Amino acid sequence: MTAAPILPPPSPLAAPLAARRLHVITWGCQMNVYDSGRMADALVPAGFTEAAATPETADLVILNTCHIRDRAAEKVFSELGRLRLLKEDRARAGGRMILAVAGCVAQAEGEALIARAPFVDIVLGPQTYHRLPALLARAEAAPGEPVLDTEFPPEDKFDHLPQPTPGAIPGAAPRITAFLAIQEGCDKFCAFCVVPYTRGAEQSRPAAAVLDEATRLVAAGAREITLLGQNVNAWHGAGPDGATWTLARLLAALAEIPGLARLRYTTSHPRDMGDDLIAAHRDLPALMPFLHLPVQSGSDRVLAAMNRRHTAADYIALIARLRAARPDLALSSDFIVGHPGETEADFQATMALVRALGFAQAYSFKYSARPGTPAAAAPDQVAEADKDRRLAELQALIRAQQARFNAACVGQTVPVLVTGPGRHPGQLAGRSPWLQPVHFFGPPALIGAEIPVTIAAALPNSLSAVRQERTAA
Ligand code: 5AD
Ligand code: SF4
Repeated sequence: MTAAPILPPPSPLAAPLAARRLHVITWGCQMNVYDSGRMADALVPAGFTEAAATPETADLVILNTCHIRDRAAEKVFSELGRLRLLKEDRARAGGRMILAVAGCVAQAEGEALIARAPFVDIVLGPQTYHRLPALLARAEAAPGEPVLDTEFPPEDKFDHLPQPTPGAIPGAAPRITAFLAIQEGCDKFCAFCVVPYTRGAEQSRPAAAVLDEATRLVAAGAREITLLGQNVNAWHGAGPDGATWTLARLLAALAEIPGLARLRYTTSHPRDMGDDLIAAHRDLPALMPFLHLPVQSGSDRVLAAMNRRHTAADYIALIARLRAARPDLALSSDFIVGHPGETEADFQATMALVRALGFAQAYSFKYSARPGTPAAAAPDQVAEADKDRRLAELQALIRAQQARFNAACVGQTVPVLVTGPGRHPGQLAGRSPWLQPVHFFGPPALIGAEIPVTIAAALPNSLSAVRQERTAA
């Protein structure tokens, strides 16, 4: 155990009863968004009961980082340079700002990060968030001595993190849509991907813990829950009945929670789409007709080089089965262009797959070499100019498909979950079953309700709609 911090009186952190202010900067995936929330929860007992709108007014700033692509570390160091100035200003004013770097860059860089940015107080990896209060106490007790924890500890962080406490931070609106991490880490080792190294081996949370957290989220106002995992459909956990449950079984149990209207899950791997999960898309009305299922490439040569362990035909056949189970299923995916070894013909195979299947939306990326991954060492790297051209071509196709998908919704009456106020006075924002943002006019009392609206117009990334007036009985 770490002793409670003893701080010199001039520090604003020394006042034990004053609310302390936290500012979290989150980059990367939805798992990081979820993790940032859990870190905030973990810090409530340490007095962090207020969110600071900007780092300027925060007592603790956490940079929750992503290492998946690009010059992730460079981006972190440039943000840290900016935060360093704020920290120095605070010190000159007789106060103290604590600076923590969390997430996958912290995990990957560790000691190197501290060597390059010694003004950082805490560096912690994604598996040690439950230790954050103890790390904070150590950092507070010993200014100028950075604290590092990038272990993969034997204990499960989820068992040691406090339950999510939506509303614990005064003024925070109840979240109609919530994330719930059920699985973390990945054993797939795609050749390009850093996740198995930064997040560690695949781990599933027990069903009872997931059901408990979901029940709490619903009690706090959530109507839609998105289950999260790096490889979420590989989830398998001990069920309360002693049997090993699959994701399909878990979804069926979650669908029973009164007040929970909608379920989603992300991100999946095609190899783990079991028969029962496909059937769940047919049988569970709460499971939304939208699936993000990364394929990465349409070329079997590239898929083999990527160690994806499926072919383009496998993926196409899988989508056919899913669409047979749920005909209105909208599809999303991830694509990488310019993976080592990708030729023009390989890239055209990706274009052909996209044309053949049709996507409601998709994310596409230029391959970016990640240190320590097998693909980074491959001899046949693709020229940057070719990557740029291929990415532009693929993105134009995906944009056109997305516009077509959105345009096809015009005139339809669809159930929209109202998530909050819209951007303009009198407007509400919500989302369609297919994850499209929808805007329409209506009273704030509708927030949290699922109501029918008629889609009036399709914009590139959202829909505008008209509320169906209730007809007299
Ligand atoms: N380069 C480019 N894109 C990548 N992704 C993962 N690793 C890399 C990389 N090294 C993409 C994949 C994955 C998504 C989360 O990020 O498409 O599905
Ligand atoms: Fe990375 Fe592949 Fe695991 Fe997805 S399945 S997290 S791309 S290694």
